[in-house]
Amino acid sequence: MPALPDPGQPPLGPRHVAIIMDGNGRWAQARGRPRLFGHHAGAKRVRDVVRACPELGVKYLTIFAFSTENWKRTQVEVAGLMSLFRRYIAKETKDLFSEGVRVRFIGDRDRLDPKLVDLMRGLEEMTKENDLVHLTVALNYGSRDEVARATKLLARDVAQGKLDPEDVDESTLTGYLDTRVLPDPDLVIRTSGEARISNFLLWQSAYAEYEFVDTLWPDFSPEELGRLCRNYGARDRRFGAVRA
Ligand code: FPP
Repeated sequence: MPALPDPGQPPLGPRHVAIIMDGNGRWAQARGRPRLFGHHAGAKRVRDVVRACPELGVKYLTIFAFSTENWKRTQVEVAGLMSLFRRYIAKETKDLFSEGVRVRFIGDRDRLDPKLVDLMRGLEEMTKENDLVHLTVALNYGSRDEVARATKLLARDVAQGKLDPEDVDESTLTGYLDTRVLPDPDLVIRTSGEARISNFLLWQSAYAEYEFVDTLWPDFSPEELGRLCRNYGARDRRFGAVRA
C-alpha cells in the first residue's frame, strides 16, 4: 500500500494519469464527417495533452488508443485507425524524442501488422533514454487479456521450476503485466460522458480516482486536464486506511 500523503503538505497532483479517449466518432458525426475524421482530430489532442504534462507535474500518461474489443468495428474503421497509428508514429517520432518523451506500448502485439510493430519498437528504442514524460500507448490492449497473458508467463515459470507457487503474491503478478515498469495510475479520466472502465487497467487502477467528463475527446484541452489534476489534488486519498 502506498504511504498516505502528509495532510500538512499542499495537495499533490496526480503523477500518473490514464485516459480513455472516447467520443471521436460522435464528434465527427456531429460535423457530418466520417468517424475517421474524428480519430484524426483526436490524435491532435494527444499531442497537446502530452505537451501539457510537464507543467502539470504529470510524469506518466497512459492512453487507450485501441482495445482488444475494437476489432469488432467495421473493417474500414479498423484499417483507418491502424494507418493513423503508423502515420502518427512516423510523423511524431522526432518531436517526441526531442521533447524528452519516453514512449512505450502495452497490449498484445501478435495481432498487429508487423510494419506497425516495427515502428512501435523503433519509437520505444529511440526514446528509451528520455525521462521528462513517460507516455504509454495501449494498443490492442485489454486488461483481462493482459492478466491472462501474464498468468500464462507466470505458469510457464512455475512449470520450469523458476518460480515457487508458494511465493506468488500481488507483486509477483504485477511483475508479469505489460505495465510492470509503471507506477499505478493515480487518476483515470474518461471523456464523452460514458461512466465505464471498458477493460482498461483494471488491476492497476484498484486505488485510482476516476473522473468522467462530458467533453468529447477531440475537444479535450490541456486546460481541462489542468482542472482535473487540481480536483485530484483536493481529494483525500486514504487507500483503505482511516485518517488519524
Ligand atoms: C474512441 O472514440 C476512440 C478510439 C477507439 C480511438 C482512439 C484513438 C485516437 C484518439 C487516435 C489517436 C491515438 C494515437 C495514439 C495516435 P469512439 O470512436 O468510440 O467514439 P464514439 O464513442 O463517439 O463512437
